[in-house]
Amino acid sequence: MGEKDLKYKNTKNIHYYLFGNGAISQLEEVLKEGYRIYFIDSYFKNKDLIKTLPLQKDDEIIYVDTINEPTTDKIDEYKQYLVKKNKNNPSTIIGIGGGATLDSAKAVANLLTNEGRAEDYQGWDLVKNPAIYKIGIPTISGTGAEASRTCVMTNVKSGLKLGMNSDYTIYDQLILDPNLTKTVPDEQYFYTGMDTYIHSFESLNGSFRHTVGDAFAREAIRLCKEVFDSENMKSDENREKLMTASYLGGCAIANSFVGVVHPFSAGLSVVFKIHHCEANCITMRGMEEFYPKEYKEFFEMAEKQNIEIPSLSKYVKNIDEDAFEKLYNSTIIHEKPLINALGEDFKEILTYEKVKEIFKKMLKD
Ligand SMILES: [Fe+2]
Repeated sequence: MGEKDLKYKNTKNIHYYLFGNGAISQLEEVLKEGYRIYFIDSYFKNKDLIKTLPLQKDDEIIYVDTINEPTTDKIDEYKQYLVKKNKNNPSTIIGIGGGATLDSAKAVANLLTNEGRAEDYQGWDLVKNPAIYKIGIPTISGTGAEASRTCVMTNVKSGLKLGMNSDYTIYDQLILDPNLTKTVPDEQYFYTGMDTYIHSFESLNGSFRHTVGDAFAREAIRLCKEVFDSENMKSDENREKLMTASYLGGCAIANSFVGVVHPFSAGLSVVFKIHHCEANCITMRGMEEFYPKEYKEFFEMAEKQNIEIPSLSKYVKNIDEDAFEKLYNSTIIHEKPLINALGEDFKEILTYEKVKEIFKKMLKD
């Protein structure tokens, strides 16, 4: 049933989470009997983390290449590989990594119990059968992928960047271990952390809201500001805070929708293959008129942390008309967030010319 059919949205959040430094050592307690499939960010290949996992004979690790963000084709490929290799589905799917890895694990867990291809489930509440039991273990904080009810994938053919938005997409169990974010490079730590700040303020500025969602979003923003206004954003305490902010921001989004930033950011990802969190930060360059207060705070935090927010000119010098059209289409397709932010008539505000002007602002150095 879609949003419009319900007076109130029945909201599911994460059922179980283990939180604390070293919590990953308790993974074995929450695994189910039977073989397990691990999706792990390829960064961890040959790292010590792998040796600490409670691997059994038939378990398998699939390393997720995070150079490219998940595509529907890649998810289909994982499914075909697993179905071909094993008669029965795994008992547990474990995702260990950032947003792209956590989302890949979620998408495959849905697809193994639902027939067809990944693209069949891009949208809202299209997944019919419950997914494989799954455990999420984030190793970077900010995307909220650990708590959200979506798993973002790009359909390269149609240009649609949209996840399987479903209650079945939500992880059954999380392990939130702030020790795992120690080695994240500063820039990535900032860009990714800002994802939770951004989707939380988008949610708070929207019209589809309620008090619970607002409370999650406000606390996520408060924690982000504490972290990024401080002297050492990666202190032990701040890594705990940012992991909490990421989780709460993900819960906020499970209660509501994003706004103007994410659709534009999705346009950049689809057309120029820019990673989500960096694309968000580039998009902020064009967002002053929509979110003046947050625009100011965002650039103040970047300055405080000595993080340079790239211009779009890092990726492209001139955008031709053909690319503008693609950008426009892959932005405007995100109707729900844009209605949330700007109302039913959002296309009257975001005309083709207006969208072009906003992308041009991102090009300036
Ligand atoms: Fe995001």
